[in-house]
Amino acid sequence: MPNVVCIGAQWGDEGKGKIVDCLGPRADLVVRFQGGPNAGHTLVVDGEKTVLHLIPSGILHEGTLNLIGAGVVVDPETLLQEIDGLVERGVPVTPDRLRISDRAHLILPVHRALDRAREESLGEAKIGTTGRGIGPAYEDRVGRAGVRICDLLEPDTIEDRLSLHIRERNVMLEKLYGWPTIDVKEIIKAAREWGERLAPFVDDVGVTIDRALRANRSVLFEGAQGTLLDIDHGTYPYVTSSTTLAGGACAGAGIGPTRIDKVLGITKAYTTRVGGGPFPTEDQGQAGQHLSVRGAEFGATTGRKRRCGWLDLVVLRHAVRVNGITSLALLKLDVLTGLRELRVCTGYRADGREIENFPASLRVLRACEPVYVTLPGWEEPIEHVRSIDELPPNAADYVRFIERELEVPADLIGVGPDRDATIEAGNPFDTPSRLS
Ligand code: GDP
Ligand code: IMO
Ligand code: MG
Repeated sequence: MPNVVCIGAQWGDEGKGKIVDCLGPRADLVVRFQGGPNAGHTLVVDGEKTVLHLIPSGILHEGTLNLIGAGVVVDPETLLQEIDGLVERGVPVTPDRLRISDRAHLILPVHRALDRAREESLGEAKIGTTGRGIGPAYEDRVGRAGVRICDLLEPDTIEDRLSLHIRERNVMLEKLYGWPTIDVKEIIKAAREWGERLAPFVDDVGVTIDRALRANRSVLFEGAQGTLLDIDHGTYPYVTSSTTLAGGACAGAGIGPTRIDKVLGITKAYTTRVGGGPFPTEDQGQAGQHLSVRGAEFGATTGRKRRCGWLDLVVLRHAVRVNGITSLALLKLDVLTGLRELRVCTGYRADGREIENFPASLRVLRACEPVYVTLPGWEEPIEHVRSIDELPPNAADYVRFIERELEVPADLIGVGPDRDATIEAGNPFDTPSRLS
């Protein structure tokens, strides 16, 4: 069976949770490979909403094994809360349904404090992080000063690593930012409890995936954030601290690139962004307001209002290229209902020049003016539509325009938040796709 990587093609919140949940029954394993509790993935089943931050979005399906890979930064407090929340609602979370890589790094209270202290000190220049400690935890990981899940299982190791680590970080908190320090003893005590509770879930996740692949099982890799938040190929420094691209699935899960068959790029039918940083097609007028209200555009993790704007094909072309996207999931098409005209950005212009590729420099990007084409909108509600032929002609034309421009088929089209509110125009597990 083919193995598919699902990634966000924009600035996050494209609807990855919905799509992974929707495809869940076709996968034996669902693997998160990067990011941490900065993610907020929403699943809606028969009107009931579940928001996941660390647990992979296959958890609602009985036969699916959910894995948290080595590339994820795990906040044990958030993870335990998430497990308890699901169990309370009758969703079993047992080691035969959830495993956590022994190599994954921990987010500690000191990371959360540093994240917030740094943002506060940046003032106007702040990144607008989720405040979940993501940046500082990844810094410690590459700085070889991190604490890993496997350390939690060794009381002596964890004590040594934590003492050293927190003492150093406390100096930063206190001397640089004037923030209260973290009590080392309290964290060591908490870490013992985390270790006891999480021990049954700890696994060598790369080995588990390899075994499944050898047995011809199907694996779905679930990205977090989105392409433009990628540490290398995003709008740096207004990005997150991990590799959000499809390529990141390999290192983050612990498999080789030869095991990946397809890449499903998930995008909204328009664009949103939460936090600071450039957003060329942002619309602060009536259309933006329509998208914000009809799309209920508030962050699933922080509750912040998302900035809204038109679909940007420069962004999506960049995403198709850097991820090797083989098909698209085009979500929230229903949100466009009622807009008389739809603008789609097909290119940028800066200083009288055409800009073909998404620029690295924020100064160049800020000078870019989007070039729009205008397509006719539609008035009919489309939430009930389950086949592309039943869409209003202008809605079907909007989808076809995007497919043609990107040269990638839209296999899935979202017409509502519910798992079932999806048009399956093609099968993202199939090769070849419709357009090829
Ligand atoms: P993720 O982070 O990529 O998983 O996306 P989020 O869950 O943060 O945000 C996507 C939001 O859009 C959630 O509230 C979803 O329930 C909702 N959603 C997903 N697909 C659709 C769709 O096709 N139509 C509508 N109206 N809402 C959708
Ligand atoms: P999902 O997986 C949207 C944004 C933050 C901020 C920047 C850095 O739900 O799509 P961080 O806390 O990661 O250091 O913040 O990245 N951000 C997201 N935006 N969706 C997300 O995740 C995000 N995770 C981080 O708003 O701009
Ligand atoms: Mg989200």
